[in-house]
Amino acid sequence: MTRNIKIFDTTLRDGEQSPGCSMNLKEKLEVAEQLEKMKVDVIEAGFAIASPGDFNSVREIARLVKNSTVASLARALPQDIDRAYEAVKYAKHPRIHTFIATSDIHMKYKLKATEEEVLAQAAKMVAYAKKFCGDVEFSAEDASRSRPEFLYRVFEAVIKAGANVINVPDTVGYTTPEEYFRLIQGIRENVPNIDKAEISVHCHNDLGMAVANTLSAVAAGASQVEVTINGIGERAGNAALEEVAMALKTRRDVYGIGLNLDTTQIYHASRLVSKVTGMKVQHNKAIVGDNAFAHESGIHQHGMLANKETYEIMTPESIGLTQNKLVLGKHSGRHAFEDRLRHLGYHLEKEKLDQVFKEFKELADKKKVIYDKDLEALVADKKLEIKEIYQLKEFVINCGNVITSTANIKLKREEIELEEVAKGFGPVDAAFKAIEAIVGDSFVLEDYALQAVTEGEDALGEATVKIKKNDEVYNGRGLSTDVVEASIKAYVNAINKMFSEAAMLEE
Ligand code: KIV
Ligand code: ZN
Repeated sequence: MTRNIKIFDTTLRDGEQSPGCSMNLKEKLEVAEQLEKMKVDVIEAGFAIASPGDFNSVREIARLVKNSTVASLARALPQDIDRAYEAVKYAKHPRIHTFIATSDIHMKYKLKATEEEVLAQAAKMVAYAKKFCGDVEFSAEDASRSRPEFLYRVFEAVIKAGANVINVPDTVGYTTPEEYFRLIQGIRENVPNIDKAEISVHCHNDLGMAVANTLSAVAAGASQVEVTINGIGERAGNAALEEVAMALKTRRDVYGIGLNLDTTQIYHASRLVSKVTGMKVQHNKAIVGDNAFAHESGIHQHGMLANKETYEIMTPESIGLTQNKLVLGKHSGRHAFEDRLRHLGYHLEKEKLDQVFKEFKELADKKKVIYDKDLEALVADKKLEIKEIYQLKEFVINCGNVITSTANIKLKREEIELEEVAKGFGPVDAAFKAIEAIVGDSFVLEDYALQAVTEGEDALGEATVKIKKNDEVYNGRGLSTDVVEASIKAYVNAINKMFSEAAMLEE
């Protein structure tokens, strides 16, 4: 028999909380929009009390999202719950998600509280949250290392106080599929009022078992899974949405589970999150990695030609992956271009479309054929564009293995051209130093990566950088068939993001 389970996506909270994954407001709104399009049941939009920026993004997501429930995290403290409700109250379906730790080690060293004190606080705060909001989720942090008998009592008390969802986090990624199955089963058998609440599971991936543990909990009766796109999250990450969803869909014969999720939006969501966080998806990553549907070996290709099911357990189309076809060239017209973009799921306003079409023509002059991936790379940032405070005008690089690299960079800011020359350890370093001299500031380069968007000598190069200033990290991305130009554009893009965010905070 099929039962439905709910997908609770925490990319914007647990995912964003992890180092190097921060997103600005525009990026979070774009991700939230995509999550809603994918029909996730619950979007955890952030931790409202954590900072004014977090509060703002939870509130704006609450205003934007219409169908999915929007949740904010809150410690089991009145001021956290007040702040969470202030932010989610604009949502059509708001949820307050409150938590307190229940394991001996957390209670002793972090909370410095006894079991009885924690139990009383949990119940009191759930009752407090319930006064504001009909939908209250309670999480017992570090549940998988908590004493099961204590956990049962806590869950019974919070359900009595009004929690309609109880979450059982494996906070430190310590449990195993068998152990977690027994824990969920134990909760179902020993919490007398469990029929009044949903059981949710939340797994971290420290031992590489987050997805297996999540699926095991579903088999034991959990009805909500907490996941993130691409598995981003604290330390080794959280259970990956795409892996849990596709495992449930592909092995429906085993799990007997139905989902509301539109899995054809998975690929798009994965690329979007990778782009806005700057966290690359490994090539052999299940479901969304570049190689996930590639069949290189002759034997496999032979089998695939005879019958796709010989080596394919799910179709690329089921996650929204279209074939990376040779599509357009220099002579392709606007109509064909627009048509292809629509086919890929991009619906741009006229102004943006004009701009991408111009960039497409420029690219087609340099590159013989344009693939879907090239188009996606061109269009990817268009909805997220920030004000280009600095624009690249020209650059000249002098480098070689017998000279010190020098870069001469010309940027434009408000119609004024600014030019600097700098030396560096290689062309990219020299270029970044010249840009810093123009901007009059210096940044820590936290990460720099280059990759080809497609195969071939004339492939489009994509550079990504992460720069750090005052403990804040900004991602930048640049595209060009010339890798130095792509790198310069990425650095300028990150600097522009930094200035735009500062301006947004001042507004
Ligand atoms: O991992 C965890 O325990 C959490 C809770 C706050 C739900 O993220
Ligand atoms: Zn977590």
